Amino acid sequence: MDKLVVEGGIRLKGEVVVSGAKNAILPILAATLLTDEPCLIKGAPNLCDTITMLKILRSLGKNVGLDRGIVTVAANRHKNFIADYKFVSTMRASFCVLGPLLAKLKKAKVSLPGGCVIGVRPVDLHIKGMKALGANISVESGYVVAKTSQLKGNHIYLGGIYGSSVLATANVMMAATLAQGRTVIEAAACEPEIVDLASFLIKMGAKIEGAGTPIIEIEGVKQLRGAEHTIIPDRIEAGTFMIAALITKGDILIKNVLFHHLGAVIDKLEETGASITKTDNSIRVCFKRGLKPINITTLPYPGFPTDMQAQMMSLMSITPGISVITEKIYPDRFMHVAELNRMGAHIQREGPHAIVEGVKHLSGAPVMASDLRASASLVLAGLVAGGETTISRIYHLERGYENLEDKLQRLGARIYKEKE
Ligand code: EPZ
Repeated sequence: MDKLVVEGGIRLKGEVVVSGAKNAILPILAATLLTDEPCLIKGAPNLCDTITMLKILRSLGKNVGLDRGIVTVAANRHKNFIADYKFVSTMRASFCVLGPLLAKLKKAKVSLPGGCVIGVRPVDLHIKGMKALGANISVESGYVVAKTSQLKGNHIYLGGIYGSSVLATANVMMAATLAQGRTVIEAAACEPEIVDLASFLIKMGAKIEGAGTPIIEIEGVKQLRGAEHTIIPDRIEAGTFMIAALITKGDILIKNVLFHHLGAVIDKLEETGASITKTDNSIRVCFKRGLKPINITTLPYPGFPTDMQAQMMSLMSITPGISVITEKIYPDRFMHVAELNRMGAHIQREGPHAIVEGVKHLSGAPVMASDLRASASLVLAGLVAGGETTISRIYHLERGYENLEDKLQRLGARIYKEKE
């Protein structure tokens, strides 16, 4: 396994171009199962998760290709309706092939995703939605087995105990595109990635209104055609670089950004004292003066994104004063706390809250990545820590960040990959 070695203390300066959104490409690739016609998707990030989803599509009977950010998907002869455990266990997002398979083939057998370090990750809302559309669902030996003679539109309340569900909304919306009649999804997720998925489905001929709002209406159609689409930029990668600029007291122009996808993040970074300049497709983040501590609560979009919680914690760990970070989406998403504390941070966990007492400096140390965004928080901490930080298990990082060390090197960071 590889590890990352980071030497702290360099102010990052320059320009970086954000890649396509991981959490947009994954459901959009699943949506290609809704048609037998070829699809072409541009701006695809070359990530481990993208490759995993392409492997799943291939196992389900698609011919797929990825070359310089362009994904091609075409049907081939054999159709398979089984999404195997070996794929779904490595990437939870694979579960969103359930809706398209059920809608197109009238049957699906998809492995239940395991939990992961950030939480139990149930799929009860996905199953509730499929049942509401008329599927017969059973769970057999760790697989969800779904069958239907024909999906039928319905009014579905999809809110869970932690609010809306992004991939459950995606799964149900995709299934509903080929259901008979009208489907209303209430308490739908409003994330930009849902809007991007709906935009792709509409290009395929789906009839969808309200994507991006809590009420999405879908009028089922008989079939969908192939389509071309360009993926939206990755707002979480953009947010990660915004914090990289501040934590190193640097100045970074972040390009290929839709700043209206980052409202809560920009608001909180301006509150702490960042200088932020926005244009149509870029954001410049500059460290002007000492930052102030802030309190953050993660919420469904447009609230502060849980996927930025760990990165913000790194920044607050060296911001003088007390910051309180409350995690409302995944109350256990604090694996990065212990690792940051090993670097000299003073963070105390109290249930879904982390009390962060800013320290003057962090010290480089050997640390271990545990999940995608925790890994990013450790890289950010390593960029500012005195001395050298080595981050092991960086396969977590490579799931969601395309060429991160290369992008950081171009900004002046002393960071390189080493064989473990
Ligand atoms: C998506 O996961 C993202 N992944 C996650 O990003 C992100 O953290 C999450 O949304 C929340 O924004 C992708 O889009 C591939 P949820 P998803 O269903 O859809 C509970 C990253 O770092 N829930 O919106 O799986 C769930 O436990 C990843 O890029 C149920 O209770 O998340 C959580 O508490 C990590 N029942 C809350 O809802 C369900 O059936 C939100 O989860 C489904 C979810």
